[in-house]
Amino acid sequence: MTSRTPLTAHTLVKTYGAAGTGTTALAGVDLSIAPGESVAIMGPSGSGKTTLLHCLAGVLPATSGQVIWAGQDLSSMSEGARTGLRRTDFGFVFQSGQLLPELPADENAALPLMLAGTPRAQATDTARRWLAYLGLGGMESRRPGELSGGQAQRVAIARALVGSPGVVFADEPTGALDQQTGHEVLGVLTEATRATGAALVIVTHDPGVARWCSRTVHMRDGRIVSEDRTPAAPAAQPVAPAAQPVAPAPQAGPTAQPGAPVAPGPWPAPTAPYGPNGTSAVGGSNLPDGVTVVPR
Ligand SMILES: Nc1ncnc2c1ncn2[C@@H]1O[C@H](COP(=O)(O)OP(=O)(O)OP(=O)(O)O)[C@@H](O)[C@H]1O
Ligand SMILES: [Mg+2]
Repeated sequence: MTSRTPLTAHTLVKTYGAAGTGTTALAGVDLSIAPGESVAIMGPSGSGKTTLLHCLAGVLPATSGQVIWAGQDLSSMSEGARTGLRRTDFGFVFQSGQLLPELPADENAALPLMLAGTPRAQATDTARRWLAYLGLGGMESRRPGELSGGQAQRVAIARALVGSPGVVFADEPTGALDQQTGHEVLGVLTEATRATGAALVIVTHDPGVARWCSRTVHMRDGRIVSEDRTPAAPAAQPVAPAAQPVAPAPQAGPTAQPGAPVAPGPWPAPTAPYGPNGTSAVGGSNLPDGVTVVPR
């Protein structure tokens, strides 16, 4: 669920294979991801990005160090408890191939809810509203093979968000797309995740990703070597943010606090020409039930 708790890694080490002769993929990583924060992880191939993502999400056990989420050390939990936590608290978007080919888009997107015990009709109803919100209205019955790569990734984003996770993990979600479609998907992913109040951890090779994230972390040889925060506004920019056209923010769902700000945080709103009308990546008024918009 959406949470006000940070996700933190302390001196995280991950070695594949036997101690001494194995590969050290993570050589002592410290990282804290604040609630609602969007963090891009970049670095050369083999630098440990996917390994870090998997350790943070409790998919892989760390060799040493800790990952703390909601006051719990993931490494001290049983595998069953970690699996349950991944279903309820985390959402995942991968490069491709994550949708079940025999299921229509709405059932693919509804899977996390169904796995958590939500009745099928209710789960697909929520999933359909997510699909509409993400610009896929009318495509609910299509199977993955009948969707474009960008549309399939929107279904994957709906699936990642449908259970109102606290953190969404994305590993090269645009890696199989052309640049323009990739940027559209990045816009959808970051905007929709931000609207729910979830944090986002995104591994990418796209150097333009900082535009959508509040922070970029650079890895090399299993370590974080530097990080950049996206400035609130370019210092040399004379244009006041309020004067810029801002994409319409999604309206609060029924559980949102009245008057809660739904506009993006201190980083600039994406201005990419994505979205059906070149305005917003996602649709405005139908944020699905149960989504809490968290002020930041
Ligand atoms: N299952 C595994 N068994 C053994 N070594 C592995 C395994 N998975 C990853 N590695 C090694 O760990 C290191 C980090 O791999 P990782 O997949 O985390 O890199 P990455 O930064 O995600 O790279 P890429 O950009 O190519 O996806 C690499 O040296 C890799 O060969
Ligand atoms: Mg990788």
